[in-house]
Amino acid sequence: MTAQIIDGKAFAATLREKIAQHISRLKQDHGVTPGLAVVLVGEDPASQVYVRSKGKQTVEVGMNSYEHKLPADTTEAGLLALIHQLNTDPAVHGILVQLPLPAHLDEALVINAIDPTKDVDGFHISNVGLLATGQKAMVPCTPLGCLMMLREYCGSLSGLNAVVIGRSNIVGKPMAQLLLRDSCTVTVVHSRTRNLPEIVSSADIVVAAVGRPLFVPGEWIKPGATVIDVGINRIEQGDGTTRLVGDVDYDTAKEVAGAITPVPGGVGPMTIACLLANTVTACCRTHSLSEPNGLTA
Ligand code: GUN
Repeated sequence: MTAQIIDGKAFAATLREKIAQHISRLKQDHGVTPGLAVVLVGEDPASQVYVRSKGKQTVEVGMNSYEHKLPADTTEAGLLALIHQLNTDPAVHGILVQLPLPAHLDEALVINAIDPTKDVDGFHISNVGLLATGQKAMVPCTPLGCLMMLREYCGSLSGLNAVVIGRSNIVGKPMAQLLLRDSCTVTVVHSRTRNLPEIVSSADIVVAAVGRPLFVPGEWIKPGATVIDVGINRIEQGDGTTRLVGDVDYDTAKEVAGAITPVPGGVGPMTIACLLANTVTACCRTHSLSEPNGLTA
């Protein structure tokens, strides 16, 4: 059996189309344009690429994009002052502080200074608590994108065994919360888990977010399972070039799985699309307008 390929790029394009249509209705009917502010501290090259891509896609769907690029030696007080200004700016509905921050800045302090209703990353402690208790939260973008694809490919997730590999605050933990909310039986495994192959092979759904290249071989996958690969790892090849691979060994897993996301072109494109979706959701909530279906969990 060869797995169905879950085309995240096409899925994200369809989601952006839906977002763009909703934004044009918000403008026409309510005179409101959603705005997303992205804050980048320092010159990390990977972060610069992400921020550029976020800004471009924000404008393409019809939102306002506000980019704040601060020098690497910005003080905590300086960054907090900017966040306070964005919290009180009515044109800004979503705030994203690009991580990682330079080492002298306290990430938790900075994230928790963002107004939780504008926290489109869903990293603020209030949103973490709201999600964990099944209340209306801003949901982290990568797990949200994974959930949307899972619902599309599996239909109802109720009663399915889901194994999440990785326990990060950004992906593993919120992913587990979302799968629980959809009535999966959820197991979170990590680097210290003892019988990893056995646990993974019991899963109807595998979400791999461990950050280790080709960590999950096809032989761990239950025949017909749905596999979502969050990993993006660059590996050296014998000829001196590099290639992008996921946390799952795609070549062997696709022979066993029922459906699988490729790397690149799987989860990656969904993350930014979900950031745009979260900004529209935040805007609708701020203005007490009805939220469009299918943009949040
Ligand atoms: N750096 C890498 N991924 C992310 C993300 O999803 N949000 C933020 N704020 N920073 C990141």
